[in-house]
Amino acid sequence: MSFGFIAALLTAIIVLLINCLVVISILESLLIGVPFLPVSSKVLPKILEALELKQGSLFVDLGCGDCRVMEFCLKQAPGISCLGLERGFIPFFLAKIRLRGLKSARVLRNDFFKYDLSGATHIFAYLSSGSMDKLLPKLEKELRPKTRLVSCDFAFSRKEPLKIIDLDRPKGALCRKLLVYEF
Ligand SMILES: C[S@@+](CC[C@H](N)C(=O)[O-])C[C@H]1O[C@@H](n2cnc3c(N)ncnc32)[C@H](O)[C@@H]1O
Repeated sequence: MSFGFIAALLTAIIVLLINCLVVISILESLLIGVPFLPVSSKVLPKILEALELKQGSLFVDLGCGDCRVMEFCLKQAPGISCLGLERGFIPFFLAKIRLRGLKSARVLRNDFFKYDLSGATHIFAYLSSGSMDKLLPKLEKELRPKTRLVSCDFAFSRKEPLKIIDLDRPKGALCRKLLVYEF
């Protein structure tokens, strides 16, 4: 077998694997209802600022994707602990890789609607309008007073935000605003 043949075969296998992962990711997004769309890394400092994390905070990312928000927060605010809840296999796998070596962070392959959130002091969500409204009764029941929640782009229709932060992003871009809530 020539070197050229082996190289072509390996390339074909890699392309096939990537296509399989893309198809799995699309099917998963359809099942879960919210696609895996990570926030732009440009807005991470604004998210950190809006969260107002303190020493000892337990920060929970609902649908944490690849855990980029948690990783950024942990590096900038080292006295906190982080929990990511993620249903999708591919983002969960990417999150596991990203969090290697970060002792105060963990990610669980869980549905956040079925997870007890009463321990959280700070929450981040980048979901959809439907998920936000479905979550509200659970959050109102479980969260302790003063728990802070920052949502990227999507508001609760039945709860007023403390403030809305304009992220100054180009028209048509995702992640255009942060809505800050207190429970
Ligand atoms: C738009 S992405 C945001 C990812 C990450 N929070 C970020 O901002 O980079 C939404 C994520 O929520 C996850 N998700 C949606 N519904 C979920 C549920 N009920 N439980 C756990 N994860 C969920 C999706 O799989 C997806 O990865």
